[in-house]
Amino acid sequence: MKINTAEFIISNSEVSKCPKEPLPEYAFIGRSNVGKSSLINMITNHKNLAKTSARPGKTQLINHFKINQNWFLVDLPGYGYARVSKKTKEVFQKFITDYFEKREQLVCAFVLIDIRHEAQKIDLEFITYLGETGVPFCIIFTKADKISRTKIDSHVAAYRKALLANNWEEMPQYFVTSSLENTGRDELLTFIDNVNQD
Ligand code: GTP
Ligand code: MG
Repeated sequence: MKINTAEFIISNSEVSKCPKEPLPEYAFIGRSNVGKSSLINMITNHKNLAKTSARPGKTQLINHFKINQNWFLVDLPGYGYARVSKKTKEVFQKFITDYFEKREQLVCAFVLIDIRHEAQKIDLEFITYLGETGVPFCIIFTKADKISRTKIDSHVAAYRKALLANNWEEMPQYFVTSSLENTGRDELLTFIDNVNQD
């Protein structure tokens, strides 16, 4: 798929204020600093469409971007960022879970996982939550430029093992990406294109 237009539409913390147009929607979720906003910029080919930062906790709202006038990409705040106060964290959790439970346009969530690290409890819990809520999702491994090519397969295999140990019967569809090196872009866009055409 070719990206012809990518425009920021709205930021907010309430699902009821998200755009009403019934367009298919894809949301990026994962730990703070995993690379959600960077990946949105990479796949849309816009350097600064979504705001990124080396400091975790940059994205704090639900951000809608309209792509090619016919689908939405959604950038969400990260979870699991300890420096955000407990009270704020609860608010994040409520509007994030509201989003996943109420947003009818959502066709697929992309759960981003930093490919360098072993499976983290908070990600496995979030994946379980999505499963229980019935939200279709894929996994996107990020920052693949940070490990050698030969290690990528073994890290993915370790993740599969962790998911199976967490009661998943199989590894969901996954993508390996690097926003720095522009890898995984075509695969992701082809996937979205196919889902949009179903
Ligand atoms: P929050 O909004 O805080 O939850 O973070 P985020 O998940 O949106 O992460 P963001 O895209 O802001 O990126 C966090 C940091 O990781 C930034 O310093 C990025 O430059 C860096 N980063 C993101 N993707 C990649 C990648 O593919 N490779 C490398 N090497 N660095 C990356
Ligand atoms: Mg962000």
